[in-house]
Amino acid sequence: KLTLDESKPGIAISPTLYGAFFEDINHAGDGGLYAEMLMNRSFENADLSAESWLLYTSGDGEGSIEITKDNLLNKAQKQALAVKVDSTAHNGWVGATNGGFWGLSVTKGKSYKVSFYAKASSDFNGKLRVSLEDAGHTVTYAEQTTEALSNDWKLYTLTLTPDTDDTGAYFVISANTTGTFALDVVSMFPDTWNNRENGMRADLAQMVADMKPSFLRFPGGCFIEGATQEDAYYWKETIGPVEERPGHNNLWGYRTTDGLGFHEFLQWSEDMGAEPLYVTNVGISHDGNPYTDYSTTPIDELGVWIQDALDAIEYANGPVTSKWGAERAKNGHPEPFNLKYIEVGNENNFQMSEYVQRYPLFYKAIKEKYPEITVISNADNAGEKVEMVDEHYYFAPQWFMNNADKYDSYDRSGPDIYVGEYAVTIDAGTGNMAAALGEAAFMTGMERNSDIVKMASYAPLFVNVNDRKWNPDAIVFDHATSYGTPSYYVQMLFGQNKGDTLIPGTLTGGPKAEPAPISGGVGVGTWATQVEYDDIKVTSADGKNVLLEDSFNQDSGAWQTMNGDWAVQDGSYVQSSDQTDVRATAGDVDWSNYTMTTRARKTGGA
Ligand code: AHR
Repeated sequence: KLTLDESKPGIAISPTLYGAFFEDINHAGDGGLYAEMLMNRSFENADLSAESWLLYTSGDGEGSIEITKDNLLNKAQKQALAVKVDSTAHNGWVGATNGGFWGLSVTKGKSYKVSFYAKASSDFNGKLRVSLEDAGHTVTYAEQTTEALSNDWKLYTLTLTPDTDDTGAYFVISANTTGTFALDVVSMFPDTWNNRENGMRADLAQMVADMKPSFLRFPGGCFIEGATQEDAYYWKETIGPVEERPGHNNLWGYRTTDGLGFHEFLQWSEDMGAEPLYVTNVGISHDGNPYTDYSTTPIDELGVWIQDALDAIEYANGPVTSKWGAERAKNGHPEPFNLKYIEVGNENNFQMSEYVQRYPLFYKAIKEKYPEITVISNADNAGEKVEMVDEHYYFAPQWFMNNADKYDSYDRSGPDIYVGEYAVTIDAGTGNMAAALGEAAFMTGMERNSDIVKMASYAPLFVNVNDRKWNPDAIVFDHATSYGTPSYYVQMLFGQNKGDTLIPGTLTGGPKAEPAPISGGVGVGTWATQVEYDDIKVTSADGKNVLLEDSFNQDSGAWQTMNGDWAVQDGSYVQSSDQTDVRATAGDVDWSNYTMTTRARKTGGA
């Protein structure tokens, strides 16, 4: 029985509590939310692959396609496509075809905006045909013809309106004139969410809008760090005309066009009524093993990154008379976006000795120029004042349920808390009810303590089923369809039903909760990161000992032995001292003889 005492209202619930975190992981952006339908539109991927551009021929057409680095469109574009038409016998056509991001879905009667740059070599004197076709290239759903190409790069725009539905269509550009022509930035867009140019896929963007997020954290995540400094996120290269954006190698394993750029994130936030929260790089890259192998911009060169962050704020908020405010106006938004939050680094508490040198420099520079901006830190002991700290939690359902009271006892004089990333990742598969319930339980605790927990965002938001780098995720999609996992609906329900004031309640009766044993989720003999259980046991079939370690020390690069001892693992549970990362190692044991079991914390007793 739940009894509420409305005569004694509790804390005001933070109006910014439930937000969203977007990162281009799992093809969340390119091939996902970003509505561009053609994969590798600028031919900047390392090579042409069957997943993007293929040679197209019809009739007795003969020819070839290849990447060219000659006579490029501009400095941002490092590669283009050269199409060589050798023969057009028997009404032969030669060109290039693109099947989208693991599929191209077109709807009868809908209009698709096509644009591309093309240039004829001196031996080519003809027009291009642009079409949508079936996979066998036997049926044409829509087609348009350009004027004769010129010998200079020129932008062509047209609309294709297919007469048939097909979720497996192909886009084709071809010619039936011999000679060579070049193509670059070949793009096709459907109608977008909120009718934005260069906008977002309507179904996916609507699902995020339905979460009613009070803020939007972007663009990462590890995404901002880049595997190296070269591939870090440089927001200035993500604004302006898309053909002037070079794109970059995303550390999640693919190249991103940055078509969904800094301006689009700000615009998206505004369109959703969400406060933008920008995460800046602090000159530390992800680079393989995040614990030990990071590359950095030296402290004495950090000024470029600090200036980059200040410029980002000026782009978002500065007057149109300022340098970056003027750029914002040029990109269609003279009014400020009112950025109120900036996060200094992403998870760079993993490199604490570096972070404590860097955060203070960012904090002071930002506060000096923009005292009204809330600066979010990756750690609460960052060598300078911390107003708000970002905490990340990826654990098992039971951890989240057991930790619903986590913030009840937090120090009220410490920094405000932003739980920037959290999700059940163990025993969660690609999303399930137990994960959603674990998160929901934890969210009740954040809400009850939202006098200090001011903001929170689930992660990751999206996964394209063709590139599952991270499980689970809130919104699952392919090129044609999408659905929410149970975790998505938890986010949506909490976001849509925000409370104003906490009403104290008492729950009596009901089943008694006992901690349940949890199996699996821990990689035996491998890095078993982010396991957060008090109790862990390894059961051996051959009687050998196993070393359990926790407390990875970032600076020394060493793991510390759990409880300082070798643990004889014959079925007894061992308690982790800090409930953080745990791994098991043992000389030359045959790991197939071992099972590792974790047991949830027993609250209030042994
Ligand atoms: O959400 C996925 C990743 O988890 C983020 O990029 C990173 O911040 C965290 O480690």
